[in-house]
Amino acid sequence: MNNVAKIRKEKHITQIELAKIAGISRTYLSKIEKNTVTPSIVIAMKLSKMLNVSIDKLFMDIEHNHGKILPKKMSFVDLFCGIGGFRYASQKAFDQLNIKGKCVFSSDIDKYAQEAYEANFSERPAGDITKIKASQIPTFDLLFGGFPCQTFSICGLRKGFEDTTRGTLFFDIARIIKAKQPQAFVLENVKNLASHNNGKTIRTIIEVLRDELGYYVDYHLLNALDFGLPQKRERVLILGAKKPFKMDWNFKVEKQKTLSDILDKVVDKKYYASKDIISKRKAMHTSKYYPAIWHENKSGNISSYPYSCALRAGASYNYLLVNGERRLTPREMLRLQGFPETFKIVVSDCQTRKQAGNAIPVDMVAEVIKRFLPIAF
Ligand SMILES: C[S@@+](CC[C@H](N)C(=O)[O-])C[C@H]1O[C@@H](n2cnc3c(N)ncnc32)[C@H](O)[C@@H]1O
Repeated sequence: MNNVAKIRKEKHITQIELAKIAGISRTYLSKIEKNTVTPSIVIAMKLSKMLNVSIDKLFMDIEHNHGKILPKKMSFVDLFCGIGGFRYASQKAFDQLNIKGKCVFSSDIDKYAQEAYEANFSERPAGDITKIKASQIPTFDLLFGGFPCQTFSICGLRKGFEDTTRGTLFFDIARIIKAKQPQAFVLENVKNLASHNNGKTIRTIIEVLRDELGYYVDYHLLNALDFGLPQKRERVLILGAKKPFKMDWNFKVEKQKTLSDILDKVVDKKYYASKDIISKRKAMHTSKYYPAIWHENKSGNISSYPYSCALRAGASYNYLLVNGERRLTPREMLRLQGFPETFKIVVSDCQTRKQAGNAIPVDMVAEVIKRFLPIAF
């Protein structure tokens, strides 16, 4: 296992280009990438220089695999799949761990999300999960789900999670886990989940997963900024496995994408705010950074950073403005979430903006899954 192909692709360098600069044939580079040959230290150093990452990062990123043999294949379900953030994140992790991942079921109620997912993954997600019986879902090893956060009613007689969480979408996750007994799951939610309803919501979730469903569970708040994406997006990740595990939540990601990597130099004029809005913004604020994303908070104050504040599905039109002048394009928003350039945009700008705002930061979740699988299986 090595990271040469992954890092090369992230830098948009072709095999031919890299092979040429490293003074080797394309075929030989392809063998290095597939791990069928071990390059000499001289070639390894050249590749590390060309790709601007350490040799360790390029060839020895296996420290969390504990030398363990993992299953060669894993099947998974993608619940509340949106436009497939978990799909990309798990694919990255599977590739790095040499696992063949297979999605056996996906679901999202939103027809535009279904359209986008189908265009990109050639399968139409099923609809409303509350209407799907567990028996309609094939067996699987792993469950992924970034579910909407809702308050649980905890009054009345509590007989178990069926009583406690019925009517919420977490209930559907729990009933599917209970019926299908996957080896592990990864759930994602907004930062507020941890404080929601005075902490009762997260407590109920953990109690159900641990005490009622019998899984070992851990959760943590992570920020996409710490995973190389220029977006401050804090999210709670909940992990569960049938066997005990100890997750190391300290991540050190070397490669940082900057706004300059994300922003297009020229964009259509339809993305520009009106002259009036631009001059009002500039009268209120001067940025220390360029490029910068200007952020308008709820009380109308403006701040700016060399990264974006969290993309939001239902945010107002000019809530984030590049250099105080223009909105992000849907493609730029997808990049801020770590979606690849190959992601096909097939729905309107308005729907894509909402989808990108709902999605998970791919790079962050990929790192978590990559570290979690070796300790969960
Ligand atoms: C936070 S988003 C998840 C986005 C996804 N993780 C991604 O990366 O694109 C939650 C998703 O749940 C979907 N959803 C809400 N209610 C649902 C239901 N009853 N059944 C299936 N999907 C539902 C929404 O349409 C939305 O796409």
